[in-house]
Amino acid sequence: MTETRGTGETRETTTPGFGHLLARRTAWGRSDAIGRILAAANAPGVLSMAGGIPAPDSFPVSRLAAVTDRVLSRSAAAALQYAPTEGVAAMREAVAARAGETGAAVGAERVMVTCGSQQGLDLVARTLLDEGDLVALDDPGYLGAVQAFRGAGAQLLPLPTDRDGMRVDILEDRLAAGARPKLVYVVPHFHNPTGGVLDEERRRALAGLAERYGFLVVEDDPYGDLAFDGERLPSTDVHSDRVIRLMSLSKTLCPGLRVAGLTAPAGLIGELVAAKQSSDLQTNTFGQYVLAELLGDPSFLPAHLTRLRTLYGDKARATAALLRERLPWLVFDDPRGGLFFWCTVDDPQVTSDLLYEHALAQGIAIVPGKPFCIEQDGSRVLRLSFATLDEEQRQEGVSRLAAAFAKARADAG
Ligand SMILES: Cc1ncc(COP(=O)(O)O)c(C=O)c1O
Repeated sequence: MTETRGTGETRETTTPGFGHLLARRTAWGRSDAIGRILAAANAPGVLSMAGGIPAPDSFPVSRLAAVTDRVLSRSAAAALQYAPTEGVAAMREAVAARAGETGAAVGAERVMVTCGSQQGLDLVARTLLDEGDLVALDDPGYLGAVQAFRGAGAQLLPLPTDRDGMRVDILEDRLAAGARPKLVYVVPHFHNPTGGVLDEERRRALAGLAERYGFLVVEDDPYGDLAFDGERLPSTDVHSDRVIRLMSLSKTLCPGLRVAGLTAPAGLIGELVAAKQSSDLQTNTFGQYVLAELLGDPSFLPAHLTRLRTLYGDKARATAALLRERLPWLVFDDPRGGLFFWCTVDDPQVTSDLLYEHALAQGIAIVPGKPFCIEQDGSRVLRLSFATLDEEQRQEGVSRLAAAFAKARADAG
């Protein structure tokens, strides 16, 4: 069946027999593209450079085991109980402390603990967006955000992006021409998928535009702590109060506990908490106790982040060298942090979709760029993760990609 929404856009639903029962909004944010690609990547024998997942050896397993024991022996009654919707006090304080180290100082009363930043995106979208409202974002963009905003009925204002992040000058032109976004969504460090870092001047300009035009900046920053040189720029919230920060811990600690922080202006936090209450009451109490205890140890995070930056920096450099040596048709900038290469296939005949099909047949999964692209041409771009393969798998994966390219070329020509 086909759904039409307020924006005039139509989409297919995939529920034969039940389509007439679905709410109209059910179809709005729906996209199965990445789900299908990641399912294929998990097939037996397939090596994957597709997922945006952290390396298992990045998880602080022994420290987590020790704090888990401590929490259970000292605080089991509270740690296994229901907790306030806004979050356990110690976790809110830990998030506020981390927010202050990486941006403007905030009190714990402006923090909400969410079930991952993806939930933060959903709550922001549900709380602030009416059908037809405009959201500006980088194109290509993070698909989870696109889904959350579209799911709330928003119209998207895609903006070009480069190595220094969103083209804020183009946003300014669009605002001057009358565009009125409610939200401007940015991934400020090592953008997924492009790897761009929103530079200092653009952060300042964005904050100035937020003040002038009255929109909110949603800053979603899962990768800021993964700069290989350890440098990170302060959050846009040092320049404006009109910023919501989504502070995922998935890439720096582990995604499995589903605990993240969100900071919001004082006038909004209560609305976001109310939206969360109707959604899931609260984030996992036990996970909050464990992570608050871990983050409360001042010796833990700096040493852990140093280890992660070395781990990922080494993987990125080794993968870059191998790709350049073996796959001269793949063009990319060296990542400065994060988990990904954003690449262009420099061949007139081979599209990234064609390469993807052949890569899968050879047993190596990649993500073709089209699902990330809103208006930009995604036909020759693709995302590769360097995070999870070890040395031997990397060699094998790149050999499979070389074979896939040769077959794709033969196929195309
Ligand atoms: C830009 C971006 N935002 C949010 C998320 C989801 O983060 P979380 O695991 O905290 O929900 C991801 C995960 O890949 C991401 O890349």
